[in-house]
Amino acid sequence: MALLIATPDRDAADLARHIRQRDPEIDLRLWPELGDPSEITFVLAWRPPDGLFRLLPNLAAVSSLGAGVDALIDDESIPAGVEIGRLAGPRLAADMAAYVVAVVVSHWKRLPGFIEDQKRQRWNPRAPGSPPTVGLLGTGQMGQRSAAAFAELGFPVHGHSRSGRGPEGVEMHSGNDGLAEIAGVSDYLVNLLPLTRRTRRILDRSLFSCMKNGSTLINVGRGEHLVEADLLEALETGRPACAVLDVFRTEPLPPNHPFWRHPRILVTPHCASITRTEEAAELALESYRRVMAGKLPLGRVDRERGY
Ligand code: GLV
Repeated sequence: MALLIATPDRDAADLARHIRQRDPEIDLRLWPELGDPSEITFVLAWRPPDGLFRLLPNLAAVSSLGAGVDALIDDESIPAGVEIGRLAGPRLAADMAAYVVAVVVSHWKRLPGFIEDQKRQRWNPRAPGSPPTVGLLGTGQMGQRSAAAFAELGFPVHGHSRSGRGPEGVEMHSGNDGLAEIAGVSDYLVNLLPLTRRTRRILDRSLFSCMKNGSTLINVGRGEHLVEADLLEALETGRPACAVLDVFRTEPLPPNHPFWRHPRILVTPHCASITRTEEAAELALESYRRVMAGKLPLGRVDRERGY
């Protein structure tokens, strides 16, 4: 019974230290030092190396180190019987809510304009309009925490989910008609969806054409949710009028990418919500212990559904 951390593009030494602190007896391995692969029963992965899981004959579960499982769900080297989970704790969801609230509130309260005014020593008070309507695409763990934060500020909140179920107080929509509806009422439309076959390219020209004039699109899901050319075209029409993007098809965003210099796109470097080492260590250990006790991993995903 051993837990392998496989995060080739992230240094996992600190995470390993936190896990060992919590469980000094654990048999913990750090990729690429697999030891005897037949002893590895659980992998904590982030962008794992190709074909890794085929090398592990006694693997019971794989957990994403973050909230997204899109890199694992399509990994054909994970055998059918192996469970997939994810680590998305309350801190991660609260950090996401903080980012989305910061973006919406600073825009609504016109902070960028005041920063410019100050440079010119210009005293020019401008009150924000009435509280904006926020539309959340995805009302899972991240969406629910963000919905609560906006509701606390008294903002009308709409949500869209596959089932149409969502937290109390959130006006819910579902299906394709629901997408058009939520786009049509939202001043800020926030994508918090998991990336699946159904949601890939969901932020496209047909959705943008339903958005309100002057609205803002915020993408904190995955770059593959967005049809980039459609957004550039839509920004010319004012629907949406601007976009705040934290995730991209290629990360880091290539130097010559048009998003960098677009006057109505704010780029942030995939930092809306970053798994914190302490929380990840706590959750990873809990998930590992559950699986070793014959239970499902934390945040178990339905491999068919993709989330
Ligand atoms: C970050 O993008 C995550 O999936 O946790």
